[in-house]
Amino acid sequence: MESNIIFGSKGFTSLIKQLKEDQYSSIFILTDTNTNANCLDRFLKKTNLNNYKVLTMNAGEENKNLITCENLWNELSDLGADRNSLLINLGGGVVTDLGGFVACTFKRGIDFYNIPTTLLSMVDASVGGKTGIDLGPLKNQIGIVQEPKFILIDSKWLETLPQDEIRSGFAEMLKHGLIYEPKYWKELKFIKSTSEESLIPYIKPSIQIKSNVVSEDPKEKGLRKILNFGHTLGHAIESHFLTHTTKNKLLHGEAIAIGMVLEAYLSTQLVGLTHEEAKDIKDTFARFYPHVDFTSEEINGILELLRHDKKNKAGRINFVLLKSIGSPVIDIQVPQELFLKAFEFYKNI
Ligand SMILES: NC(=O)c1ccc[n+]([C@@H]2O[C@H](COP(=O)([O-])OP(=O)(O)OC[C@H]3O[C@@H](n4cnc5c(N)ncnc54)[C@H](O)[C@@H]3O)[C@@H](O)[C@H]2O)c1
Repeated sequence: MESNIIFGSKGFTSLIKQLKEDQYSSIFILTDTNTNANCLDRFLKKTNLNNYKVLTMNAGEENKNLITCENLWNELSDLGADRNSLLINLGGGVVTDLGGFVACTFKRGIDFYNIPTTLLSMVDASVGGKTGIDLGPLKNQIGIVQEPKFILIDSKWLETLPQDEIRSGFAEMLKHGLIYEPKYWKELKFIKSTSEESLIPYIKPSIQIKSNVVSEDPKEKGLRKILNFGHTLGHAIESHFLTHTTKNKLLHGEAIAIGMVLEAYLSTQLVGLTHEEAKDIKDTFARFYPHVDFTSEEINGILELLRHDKKNKAGRINFVLLKSIGSPVIDIQVPQELFLKAFEFYKNI
């Protein structure tokens, strides 16, 4: 099922129309503690819904797990949800990933709509149908690919989103330029600030890039893998920081930003990205993202987590690398000794 993606505050009219057409037996709205406080009132005002129930999960990646799912399945069950119920996910990537998974599995699947409220979930997580949860420290190990029935992208939500969360989403926009559209990369890298006003005009083109890639390869047989640029090492870094409480947590986009710099270096060694382009990538990320120091123990922990990446096949770790900006290559294996050199390249930012 292809999703219906509607843009802007006027999209609420389409949402109301869609709800009328769909005639659900009951409507559930999933928020997390922050979107409950910051977004729910506006959502209810804009939709004029009066027959609904709100479910709320604790905010944060550490809650994107089976325990939260079990609580929500129980709540849905206790509140009388049936196969003709709807779940509306109002939140960031954690809510849309987990809510999508809860909906896809409850009574073998009920409809869900995504109303992304973070930049990251607008340009990436809510589009493309990947739902899922983490398994211990391993990111997105359990999940289902299923498109939401309706997606409403409204940048108004960004008004209450903290600046570091905006910067986190910006990393995925930069990635879209790197893997698909050099012109878009150039425009974004010269952007003056990552304030929400400066980024709003670039949201739609980013979603367009993601949608183009996904619609050509919904099941990730080939082309869709390019969206994983920066994510193989980035996910391992994110997982490592999630489980090591002595260190500040890294947001998804912050981890992916480091992953892209590391994988740019690997690209120079294995598929011909020029050193100038790799330096351009490194300098651009250094301009927007704080530097993180890794001890050798941490690097070893990260490399250990790499082995569990979902994209590994028959024990081999496959990377998406860049031949040049805008030209990715998939399924590249990386010799072990290059990882440490990649961290050296990142260190000398
Ligand atoms: N399914 C996919 O294709 C895909 C793609 C990329 C990322 N992801 C997943 O997305 C997740 C990250 O998404 P995220 O960065 O949106 O994280 P998130 O959902 O944790 O949101 C970030 C923080 O912002 C808060 N928040 C959300 N909207 C707000 C608003 N409007 N005002 C104030 N606070 C608000 C949230 O409560 C949370 O504390 C990760 O789990 C990642 O794996 C999925």
